[in-house]
Amino acid sequence: MKIAVVYYSYSGNTDFAAAEIAKVLNADKFRIETEGSGFLNFLRYKITKKLPKLRDDLEFNADAYDKIVLAAPVWAWDVAPAMKSFLKKYPLKNKEIALLLCHGGGASEKTLTKFKTLFDDSNKVVAEKIMVNPMKFQPSRSLSFIGTWLEDVWQTT
Ligand SMILES: Cc1cc2nc3c(=O)[nH]c(=O)nc-3n(C[C@H](O)[C@H](O)[C@H](O)COP(=O)(O)O)c2cc1C
Repeated sequence: MKIAVVYYSYSGNTDFAAAEIAKVLNADKFRIETEGSGFLNFLRYKITKKLPKLRDDLEFNADAYDKIVLAAPVWAWDVAPAMKSFLKKYPLKNKEIALLLCHGGGASEKTLTKFKTLFDDSNKVVAEKIMVNPMKFQPSRSLSFIGTWLEDVWQTT
């Protein structure tokens, strides 16, 4: 069965990493997009806890995948709310999941713990990675790092 890479990216870093992961794993790539401004959505979420609305052109069928990479930026020591919207709309069951967080330098271990609360125990986290701004901070090193990340976890050759 195929692998999916599902990600949200506001300023390009997670997109940069997700593209490499999808290429290496020969996976399908799904970019989560929200209605309206990502930053205003973030402020609204912080104040009201209202999750951003996803654009309805994301054609994701969870049944088609048993292995899923979820990648998101850290926003305010938490997973960016767009990823929460995705996991609410597409509750994952019985998947092998690899988690990637991109951040600017803080609070990411705790955020990984929060990430794992967004899906239930029928899923198994098989790998997790935290990266500082992979597109901006040593991009070629980041790419080789990310390129080998899952090769021992999911044999894809
Ligand atoms: C609204 C907002 C909040 C952020 N909060 C944090 C944070 O709490 N901790 C951190 O390390 N980085 C934080 N960052 C930085 C991003 O996590 C980091 O730059 C990440 O690589 C961005 O990924 P992207 O380019 O795919 O959007 C924040 C960025 C934004 C836009």
